[in-house]
Amino acid sequence: MKPLAGKTILVGVTGGIAAYKACELVSRLKKFGADVHVMMTSSAMKMVQPVTLEVLSQNPVATDTFRVLNSHEVAHIALAKAADLVVIAPATANVIAKLAHGLADDMLTTTLLATTAPVLLAPAMNTVMYQHPATQENLRILIDRGVITIGPDGGWLACGDVGPGRMSEPQEIAGECLQLLSAARDFEGKKVLVTAGPTREPLDPVRYLTNYSSGRMGYAIAQAALARGAEVTLVTGPVDLPGVHGAEMVNITTTQDLYEAMVERVPAVDVVIQAAAPADYRAREISGEKLKKKGGEGLALNLVPNRDVAQAIGQNKLPGQIFVGFAAETENFIENARRKLLGKNLDFIVLNNVTQPGAGFNVNTNIATIVRPASLSKLPKMAKRELADRILDEVKNISAPAEE
Ligand code: CTP
Repeated sequence: MKPLAGKTILVGVTGGIAAYKACELVSRLKKFGADVHVMMTSSAMKMVQPVTLEVLSQNPVATDTFRVLNSHEVAHIALAKAADLVVIAPATANVIAKLAHGLADDMLTTTLLATTAPVLLAPAMNTVMYQHPATQENLRILIDRGVITIGPDGGWLACGDVGPGRMSEPQEIAGECLQLLSAARDFEGKKVLVTAGPTREPLDPVRYLTNYSSGRMGYAIAQAALARGAEVTLVTGPVDLPGVHGAEMVNITTTQDLYEAMVERVPAVDVVIQAAAPADYRAREISGEKLKKKGGEGLALNLVPNRDVAQAIGQNKLPGQIFVGFAAETENFIENARRKLLGKNLDFIVLNNVTQPGAGFNVNTNIATIVRPASLSKLPKMAKRELADRILDEVKNISAPAEE
């Protein structure tokens, strides 16, 4: 099967050690049937020979050596226009900085300014460079502008450090390209509301109660729904993630804020996916002054229950609306999930066993089970972005069941 036949992909290779992995990426994209064009920066050419990528892509490789001006070198603007997708793998801190600020001092960055195609970046660099506020700020600028990023993964880096900075595996990047180029627009005309992140319940002017929710799952669902053509509202608790470009962002802090935001918006939407982790309790009274410690005495917090938002909106579900919930459990998984499914009037629930490695909070993967009223599907460990698409497939299936 050649799922990318007829698609043109421009692969930009910059000068990171991971440049050698671009060879496998190009080869995988060719196997998917794409017309692949490679553009290399001069530092990338110190890592990999252009001829290797030329053979693998079966196209001339555009490089920065203007000594002999080839026709394909002048044609790079035409390539910028023809590309259905531009992938930069590896993307160094330097190219990320240039892109964020619109610099165009070589062929690749010039081409990137001249393209309107979606851009996928696979960052690869030393952990400290990746975590440097400048790089993080540059990535944030790009993501806010609609650039898609994949990785970096954590692990051993070429420099000997351990931490985030490894380029995602070529297989994963190729999979993301496939997803980006073949995303069905099957949510066109649908309004999807997604909740994400934790809530915060203040105790006094400087302290609050919260939980480990990172918001990643909800943000991935919002991105997937947008890619599939939906009109998306993302109601989000305080998280450390860049906003989702193209979604209406609604920021909330407490569970009560979430409730109010939902009551106002839910009647107008088709699908509600509740990936947020609202706090179940709040302080009976929020102290106006900072709580002082009292010698060696313990402190008992006086908490009162918050509203169960999912249950409250579930009671007013309109015909045709689809409500999806999440359940983070550590024991009696299926029974607990089914109880929540019925109690909150949900169509299905995405159950996470948060005790498993690779599931739950602050990781990019999840291991989930889709629990329906009378059946369930166990899913393998997968990226949150992929799980997001599986959840949307399930929603689609309920609204228009596949013919038997
Ligand atoms: N939820 C909600 N309002 C709450 C608590 C949870 O809307 N106050 C929603 C979550 O967004 C999620 C689902 O209910 O979609 C299940 O959340 P979870 O924390 O697993 O369950 P709880 O109902 O809080 O039950 P428990 O804490 O007893 O496991």
